Amino acid sequence: MAKAAKQSYVCQSCGAAFSRWAGKCASCNEWNSLVEEQNVAAVPGTGLAKSTKGRVIKLEGLNGDMSKTPRFTTGLVELDRVTGGGIVPGCAMLIGGEPGIGKSTLLLQLAASLANAGRRAIYFTGEEAVAQVRLRAERLGLRDAPVELAAETNLSNIMATLGDGKPPDLVVIDSIQTLWADALEAAPGTVSQVRGATQALIRYAKNSGCALLLVGHVTKDGNIAGPKVIEHMVDTVLYFEGDRGHPFRILRSVKNRFGATDEIGVFEMVHTGLREVANPSELFLGERDSKSPGTAVFAGVEGTRPLLVEIQALVAPSALGTPRRAVVGWDSNRLSMLLAVLDARCGVAFGQHDVYLNVAGGLKITEPAADLAACAALLSSFSGNALPAEHVYFGEVSLSGAVRPAGHMATRLKEAQKLGFKQIVMPAAGETELGRSKVKLTRITHLKYLVSGQAAGRAKPKAKAGK
Ligand code: TYD
Ligand code: MG
Repeated sequence: MAKAAKQSYVCQSCGAAFSRWAGKCASCNEWNSLVEEQNVAAVPGTGLAKSTKGRVIKLEGLNGDMSKTPRFTTGLVELDRVTGGGIVPGCAMLIGGEPGIGKSTLLLQLAASLANAGRRAIYFTGEEAVAQVRLRAERLGLRDAPVELAAETNLSNIMATLGDGKPPDLVVIDSIQTLWADALEAAPGTVSQVRGATQALIRYAKNSGCALLLVGHVTKDGNIAGPKVIEHMVDTVLYFEGDRGHPFRILRSVKNRFGATDEIGVFEMVHTGLREVANPSELFLGERDSKSPGTAVFAGVEGTRPLLVEIQALVAPSALGTPRRAVVGWDSNRLSMLLAVLDARCGVAFGQHDVYLNVAGGLKITEPAADLAACAALLSSFSGNALPAEHVYFGEVSLSGAVRPAGHMATRLKEAQKLGFKQIVMPAAGETELGRSKVKLTRITHLKYLVSGQAAGRAKPKAKAGK
């Protein structure tokens, strides 16, 4: 039998293995992603080198006995919401996010909360020294929480520590990229190390029933580093997002075997750590300047939660041959589409103007229902007339200029009403039940009604550029 090659070159982006090095991965076309690693099959003790004869296992039906998974609540309401009602014992969770966003802070707060509730929580840090974590705990006011702490990156030592004494209820690994196993020769952070360490830890979690929380680094594209295989291995994948210039942080679940994936948790980073935000709309609209032109409030829904945010537009005459279009928190293709629709269907040409669109609070909006609010903000900035402060907008704009219905209409209306808005400009189609309310509904079928001022409650745009 041919001797198996001991070395292989593994793509750090997709996990494909090759026998020769190349500048570009033939599988995912990523450049400079191949790293020399020792072949897993050649590592003694992994059991992958030789196959054994299997035994027959008993097959079962779907309607058999179930052990109902008892969850335990974390003490952090927003985290419980995102995980679908608490942490399931034996589950493995991966939490990703940009450096400095607050992953370590969140997990330390979680560990302290569980430890204070009488559960055993162990925190392994591979990125900071024990003293640094203690310093953070002091800042968070958690010095007295009985969290067990260690600065360790060697997988064998971690496994040995976990096997010693009473099994813990929660194990935090900060971060999975810093761990290394002696059995594998590859450097920490490489695909085989990350995969090997994750596998071993998940096996321990499933056997002992402790909840495992792994911190994962993200790449510059915002994905969790290492191949997708890590995301497949764990039960829950959470992303911690936000803009470092803003205090708001959103915890989003993108995969959850024990709950829905459309939930978000909202936190605010303050000097004493992460504070839970029960009513995010109030926070996002807190510093609103409703008197200046170019701002519109969008009645959005994130997951199942209503979220009112301000969309800001600036339209200014351009000195350039090709006017600038810049977006923050918004998709630039979607902005181009809205400008084209406003031009072609409503006769408002932005061809000689620079256009900037910003979502306040560092939020990223992906919902198509925000189109109408963005158009209202663009038109307001273009005409120089501020929109009425008590108006909110939602509705998707199609290429024909028609305003299409959006989901969760009742949720959006209720939130707008709760925050004291008086008028809602929204799609004509779609059922809503709002009962008796003081909010006036202005239902429009086409974007041209927004332009003509019938819906926006203001004058026509002053000038049409390019004419
Ligand atoms: P950290 O949890 O270390 O981020 P990550 O582990 O995701 O890299 O977050 C650190 C940031 O949070 C840092 O920039 C300082 C800020 N911070 C506060 O504003 N208040 C606090 O109480 C703490 C602990 C951190
Ligand atoms: Mg950290």
